Amino acid sequence: MQRPVSVFPRRRQWLRGLALSTAAAMPWASQATAGTTIRLSHVVAPETPKGLTLERFRTLVEERSGQRLRVKIYPQGHLYGDQDEMQALQLGAIDMVAPSLSKFGPIGFPEFELFDLPFLFDNVADVRRLTQGPVGQRLLDRLSRQRLLGLGFFDNGFKQMSANRPLLEPADFAGLRMRVQASRVIAQQMRALGASPVALPFSETRRALESGVVDGTENVVSNFWTQNMQAVQKDLSLTQHGYLGYAVVTHQRFWFNLPASDRELLQQAMREALVYGNSIGDAHNEKALTALREAGTARIHAPSASQRQRLKSAVMSVHADLAQRIDPMWIRAVREALPQAVPG
Ligand code: LMR
Repeated sequence: MQRPVSVFPRRRQWLRGLALSTAAAMPWASQATAGTTIRLSHVVAPETPKGLTLERFRTLVEERSGQRLRVKIYPQGHLYGDQDEMQALQLGAIDMVAPSLSKFGPIGFPEFELFDLPFLFDNVADVRRLTQGPVGQRLLDRLSRQRLLGLGFFDNGFKQMSANRPLLEPADFAGLRMRVQASRVIAQQMRALGASPVALPFSETRRALESGVVDGTENVVSNFWTQNMQAVQKDLSLTQHGYLGYAVVTHQRFWFNLPASDRELLQQAMREALVYGNSIGDAHNEKALTALREAGTARIHAPSASQRQRLKSAVMSVHADLAQRIDPMWIRAVREALPQAVPG
């Protein structure tokens, strides 16, 4: 898979390197003390389902602890991006992250790529049969292999395709370089459509589209809109082909250094924030689509049922490939939860 092209200004790389090296020298830095500040990093704009969900978490924590616990949120990849946020968490340079489920495969959890399988889910209710049930808990439990601790899942919504041409049929993708998250399933999905996947950090996507490093991408409409991708992508095709969701992750060293009462307060605040987050995803994506239509800066296309069926047929081989790469138990569990989605 293509190595991401890093175009970060040198100053931010230096700042990030300093934060990482300092944390490595001071692992105790994350220990809880009176007036603890919880440092939380994510890669999208504040006015997105993820940004608003984490802001709700911050408000609940600070209100309920009487400001003794503070949550400092670093949005938009300002401090850490896709390529270093998990390393920062492992080193104690940050205390919580909320990456897309597509970003767990490359760090040793390929079973999370179940959520990337194209056309697996018909709606968010299908997704929640996994995330809110035993499969989701088993996935979070696996994070402990790297001393990570999953605090829960929440949705954004369904992804659409964008480029400077409509993408409604497999043939429309021929020869396109498509930015993808660093997920093997998503890369294979693009290859099955005849495109070339280019894995890039989210924070570099807009620039890569503008400069022509890539021709198109996939994402939910709220990310497309808040990153102003319509300025460099003239055609948005409402394929609804894949799901984008998140897990909130902390490090066991940070978490178990907290007093039990603080852990309970944070867990309850996170539970409530995730319920809130799961209630706003669809509305935010609809709001972004309405704004896009009103702005008139991008042509919006919807595939017909037969076109969508042809897209689905073109990418179904991706399912069998993932089944070869992960424990069959996961496919059996998905089949039990979603009998209509995984025949056989
Ligand atoms: C992406 O990289 O496209 C997404 O993971 C961004 C997000 O919503 O976290």
